[in-house]
Amino acid sequence: APAARQPAGAAGVADIAHRGASAHAPENTLASFRQARTADADYFELDVQQTRDHVPVIMHDATLSRTTDAEKVFPGRSPWRVGDFTLAQIKRLDAGSWFSSRYAGERVPTLAETLREMEGSDMKLLLELKNPSLYPGMPGRVADELRAQPDWLLPDRTVVQSFDWPSVAAFHRLLPSVPTGVIGTPTAAQLPAVARYAGYVNPRYDTVSAAYVRAVHAQHMKVFAWVADTPATVRRLIGDRVDGIVSNRPEAVPH
Ligand code: G3P
Ligand code: CA
Repeated sequence: APAARQPAGAAGVADIAHRGASAHAPENTLASFRQARTADADYFELDVQQTRDHVPVIMHDATLSRTTDAEKVFPGRSPWRVGDFTLAQIKRLDAGSWFSSRYAGERVPTLAETLREMEGSDMKLLLELKNPSLYPGMPGRVADELRAQPDWLLPDRTVVQSFDWPSVAAFHRLLPSVPTGVIGTPTAAQLPAVARYAGYVNPRYDTVSAAYVRAVHAQHMKVFAWVADTPATVRRLIGDRVDGIVSNRPEAVPH
């Protein structure tokens, strides 16, 4: 079992490393997640999609072009959609060189590999179901992988979220013990319905105000705001009383 969870930072706000410490290492790789741990972040955030053979892998974009060398390795396979390639094919790709030659050879991790690598750390996980409408059955596969590595099912260790709110509700039905969140800014009128299946709201930083945070808290949900990298934005969000800040620079969030 992992060590006791880290308390929220001194400012009472959770420090959440966006795609890992993605200002310092290639996003959504084991290198960026390890760097988030080194920076002492409370959570690492990642994006889950699915290979052609239905394996959950960590990738932000719907295509492999920006963060791997797929166009070079598989010429003629435009538009290089994640779901058009098998895991064996994706494992041939370099997911580090685009960022820096220091990270040449970094691979696209599977969700299972990531859970295994980070299990013994004291970090929590903010897991995004990315583009779930492209991957029927993905919430169930993610639930299976969490059940297979049950340290991630410890109370409050994992939060599962998505821009696709129906997929969040579907995940909640599959694994109700794991807290869930919606990405976006539900209106005051929408918040009570969201609160039936989610415990977190994850709005973009520039849609947050102190009044909005109060409205979410009144529905007994927490606010994790994304993405804040500058001291001024971080300070403003702390003043608005958010519960967590998603940042590419976890060292910018006081803890
Ligand atoms: O935590 C929310 C954030 O991850 C959403 O933005 O585009 O980086 O997945 P994106
Ligand atoms: Ca994300």
